[in-house]
Amino acid sequence: MSANKESWGSRVGLILAMAGNAVGLGNFLRFPVQAVQNGGGAFIIPYLVCFLVMGIPLLWIEWSMGRFGGKFGHHSTPFIVDSMGKNRFWKYIGVFGLWTNIAVAAYYCYLESWTLSYVFHSILGTFSGLDQEAISDFFATYVSLGKSTLGIPYEPIVFYVICLLLNTWILSQGLASGVERVAKIGMPMLLLFGAFLAFKGFTITAGENGAINDSSVGLNFLWTPNFDQLWSPSVWLAAAGQIFFTLSVGMGTVQCYASYVRPKDDVALNAMSAGWMNEFVEVVLGGAILIPISIGYLGIDRVTEMVQSGGLGLAFRTLPYLFYQWGDALGAFSGVMWFGLLFFAGITSSLAMGTPWIGFLQDEFNWNRKSAAWSFGLIVLILGMPTVLFFRYGVFDEYDYWAGTVSLVVFALLETILFAWVFGMKKGWREITSGADIKVPGVYRFIIKFITPVLLLWVFLGSVFTPKGGDWGAAFRGNWELDNGSIINKLKNSGLKEQIAAATDPTVIEELQNQMFFVNASRILLLTVWLTLALLVYVAYKKRVREGRI
Ligand code: ALA
Repeated sequence: MSANKESWGSRVGLILAMAGNAVGLGNFLRFPVQAVQNGGGAFIIPYLVCFLVMGIPLLWIEWSMGRFGGKFGHHSTPFIVDSMGKNRFWKYIGVFGLWTNIAVAAYYCYLESWTLSYVFHSILGTFSGLDQEAISDFFATYVSLGKSTLGIPYEPIVFYVICLLLNTWILSQGLASGVERVAKIGMPMLLLFGAFLAFKGFTITAGENGAINDSSVGLNFLWTPNFDQLWSPSVWLAAAGQIFFTLSVGMGTVQCYASYVRPKDDVALNAMSAGWMNEFVEVVLGGAILIPISIGYLGIDRVTEMVQSGGLGLAFRTLPYLFYQWGDALGAFSGVMWFGLLFFAGITSSLAMGTPWIGFLQDEFNWNRKSAAWSFGLIVLILGMPTVLFFRYGVFDEYDYWAGTVSLVVFALLETILFAWVFGMKKGWREITSGADIKVPGVYRFIIKFITPVLLLWVFLGSVFTPKGGDWGAAFRGNWELDNGSIINKLKNSGLKEQIAAATDPTVIEELQNQMFFVNASRILLLTVWLTLALLVYVAYKKRVREGRI
């Protein structure tokens, strides 16, 4: 029998832990950038619709799946999904719920470790008196493992290890005494830091401290609905991708946390509380800091240009410089608030990523919590090291693409089919509504059965066959050339091959070829991890059969 008898300490603790799982770096770094990359106000309507017809249904599905599996002592997705469908292959679909967390944690904790390091640098005043270029160089030197200003050799590795040790130690303390306690401290701190920075973001005035725009320029850019692009499937795909990432659905963490809920406890209202708290943090706080402050000082065009290659530059190269426009003391203080906020957002999510693996080892192989937690830390360290050492070769992005983007959609689609069509909507609805402290709108019975799976399938197929430049009009008129961002062309490395063919400088060609090597190697590594986990699930299944537990 499983040695795992843990449970949440309180309802508030559970909701904060679940909200902490959702509120993460994605809320502050990914959301504003996705919004800008997809035309500002054009993004918000698809985003909200995706929240209502995919986000909320998936939250209810995953919370109730988790509580259902928990009744039978399952705390990770392979055997949670196994308990819902008769076919033996479902447990291998559940492997995604272990794999995604391990693979995402590997690069996510690296990003989290940057925030920790930047908190220290802000306290030490490293950025004080530096111009924009010097702060930008600091970041470039940092990620290429160059010589540290602190004099610590390989500073990113040191902070990565510290960050992992911290995560592992908290996980080893248990659900109520570790994860829940950190959520109870981390979430209020995050809200406090976020409120301070949002206040600064809302009160930027053109002409003061070098600002060229009032904050209203950035806020209007994000929030004035633009109906022109409403019919662009690419904007919808981006909105759906953001909803998955930000709510941590399709990952396996929600099911895992919910499996520790008591059988008669509510899931409907809890899911809504955590989900809406995430949306508040994302839309209100996430939308009030990075973009309004950057647009206030740099203008819409410059910011739009900068985020085309991602938002990390804006967050780590630009904001630390802009904060110092408010004076030395406030610059350092705001740096601590910003990177501290990111750190709390990150750690409450990465702790959730550790929990499924720990639950799996406890349930299936009778490991105790401490050993299981330390094994998670070690695996993440090994799998994450390539993202640290070979960051510039795109290993980090490769993990993010397969584990943090594609896998979420695949698993969300399959679990929705399982829940609504295999387990059956009659039983599924009973699971969602039993013990519910709210009346779940009946229309969601229809949405979960038909709308959510169809939209998920559309998102998946749209990502596999994305047409060049996102020009769906041309594609439907018969000219369906694939975009290099489509899953098919990604697999074929078409983008890299084109760059190599176009390059003339031998050093650039060599660099791109190295990148291709590392991209392929990362994929093989990730696939090996997936297959190893599937093998462990098979071994666990055989063990269950031997012990008469199945
Ligand atoms: N949901 C987490 C985030 O937004 C993973 O970062």
